Amino acid sequence: MANKRNITIDLGNNNTVLTSSINTLFSESTVVALNSKKNSYLLAGKAALEMEGKINGDTKVIRPLKNGVIADLNATMKMLNAFVKIVYPNRSILGFHNIIASVPYGTTEVERRALRLSLDQFNSRNTKLIFEPLAAALGMGLNIKEPDGKMIIDIGGGLTEISLISMSGVVTYMALKVGGDSFNADIRNYIEKKYILTISEKSAEQIKLQIGAASESSLPLNEECTVVGKDNLTGIPKQIRLNYREIAMILNSSISKIEDSVIKTLEQCPPELAGDIYTNGVYLTGGGALLKGLKERLESSIQLKVHLAGHSLLSVSRGMGIVLSDMEQHKALIFK
Ligand SMILES: Nc1ncnc2c1ncn2[C@@H]1O[C@H](COP(=O)(O)OP(=O)(O)OP(=O)(O)O)[C@@H](O)[C@H]1O
Ligand SMILES: [Mg+2]
Repeated sequence: MANKRNITIDLGNNNTVLTSSINTLFSESTVVALNSKKNSYLLAGKAALEMEGKINGDTKVIRPLKNGVIADLNATMKMLNAFVKIVYPNRSILGFHNIIASVPYGTTEVERRALRLSLDQFNSRNTKLIFEPLAAALGMGLNIKEPDGKMIIDIGGGLTEISLISMSGVVTYMALKVGGDSFNADIRNYIEKKYILTISEKSAEQIKLQIGAASESSLPLNEECTVVGKDNLTGIPKQIRLNYREIAMILNSSISKIEDSVIKTLEQCPPELAGDIYTNGVYLTGGGALLKGLKERLESSIQLKVHLAGHSLLSVSRGMGIVLSDMEQHKALIFK
């Protein structure tokens, strides 16, 4: 049964997900709006994201994480406080028993300290961290305790983490600052160069979701879409039409970087685990993994079976929920 005084927090570059033992309680954009003069809280989540780029002088919209780690501690604390208040309005009276939060495996001690500091405000008796690749693997339903090598590729918003895990630990790891955000940046940069048009981050995201594809042969949701931006020569709003083949070509370079890193990680795989990876295939998760045709493209470049998580945006959270439901059984996975 869900314990209302336990909570897990997946503070992602783009999405923050809160869960109790079994249920996803809440998923919101990792964005906060503050009053820049008073430094006080105004809004968080999608409502703040909507304001991005449209604000007046006293309001600043902040994305407090960069490449999967906290870049603005004050903004992170205010945002998390707002999210937790929505889920547990009486939290300040009760406090929490347990908080588990996820961190990329490659984080430094300083980066983890920032996360712990942002969680201190919740007066939990027990605050623990867990490495994202292990949580994601658990959340995908994998048995991570067995001495059997498994490769997890988590393509998030700000970071792609490639991990080889066995016996509840990470054997080989590589992270690259490429993910959903870089796909958007690729789209914006291309449109700026080719059409001399500046488009918003939100428009780039919409283009990616509608006609984004990992190769010209993978069919996206739509073949074409229109986007309105600001003509950099005339300063006047202008609309252009984009084809999915064009977007696939633009995204090619970032996807190649992910492919190259997957291949490098496979090369570093100890021979004892190579047979397991060959048999098991590799496991793909994270919101960026939902790009149309990405799974198929990876399968053809590494010649191994690629399993896409059923709930790519929630694997890490689901894994932490499993840990929370039986802390004793999973105590080797969590740390202070
Ligand atoms: N259907 C989709 N097609 C392509 N990209 C998608 C889709 N759905 C979500 N995304 C992308 O997934 C990314 C967010 O994924 P996710 O929530 O796993 O990242 P995060 O955990 O916030 O980031 P990180 O793990 O880097 O800290 C965004 O860039 C978003 O655009
Ligand atoms: Mg993530």
